[in-house]
Amino acid sequence: MKLKKIKIAIDSPSAAGAGTISKMLAKKYNLLYCDTGKIYRFLAKKLMEKKPKNKIKYLKKISKKINLKKLKSKNLLTNEVAYVASQIAKDLRVRRMVLKFQRELAYNPPQKYKGSVLDGRDIISKVVTDANFKFYITANSRVRAKRRFLELKKLGKKVKFNEILKSIKKRDREDRTRKYSRLKKTKDSTLINTTNLSIKNSFLKVKKIIDRRLN
Ligand code: DC
Repeated sequence: MKLKKIKIAIDSPSAAGAGTISKMLAKKYNLLYCDTGKIYRFLAKKLMEKKPKNKIKYLKKISKKINLKKLKSKNLLTNEVAYVASQIAKDLRVRRMVLKFQRELAYNPPQKYKGSVLDGRDIISKVVTDANFKFYITANSRVRAKRRFLELKKLGKKVKFNEILKSIKKRDREDRTRKYSRLKKTKDSTLINTTNLSIKNSFLKVKKIIDRRLN
């Protein structure tokens, strides 16, 4: 398959390894990468700081000024921000604000890139439905909690495994049962279960599928 620009879409529950794999794909194929969860986290953080009376009006204003650089801030990584993000992500009006920015990245990446890779919860099902490659990456919740636990510990954060497991399960429930754009595997996506795979082997599995179709 000869492609002008590649579009890769990935969905996953939190801490399943999708972010790491996406970054590796971006590097390997020279693609623009966006972790779309960061967009919801960014809006959540702004809300937490500003506490505006009219949340939607405020978010509408803020959402017009989002750019990839703003999404890099380390203060978006906390559990509290993640939880507020999952709450605002339920609102269809917020999802619509975010959609435009995501599609712009996916369909019109800057010239220097060969395409795009986006990961999130509704990328394969809603945002880039015509992606050339679609993956649904998952792992069981204990393994995901353990990975998140080690990641946060490495950052010097005081964390308890059971609390992380609890918050991962809670967020899974929120993301899988909400009314709009709930997290789900689509029929046209490939399932990658990373429970018993190292990062490297998970990446190689995805890469093999892409290369087989590209070559
Ligand atoms: O991937 P993450 O943990 O950074 O995502 C934070 C929250 O954002 C997640 O619980 C649900 C929401 N989200 C979403 O609704 N749709 C996306 N495409 C990405 C994230």
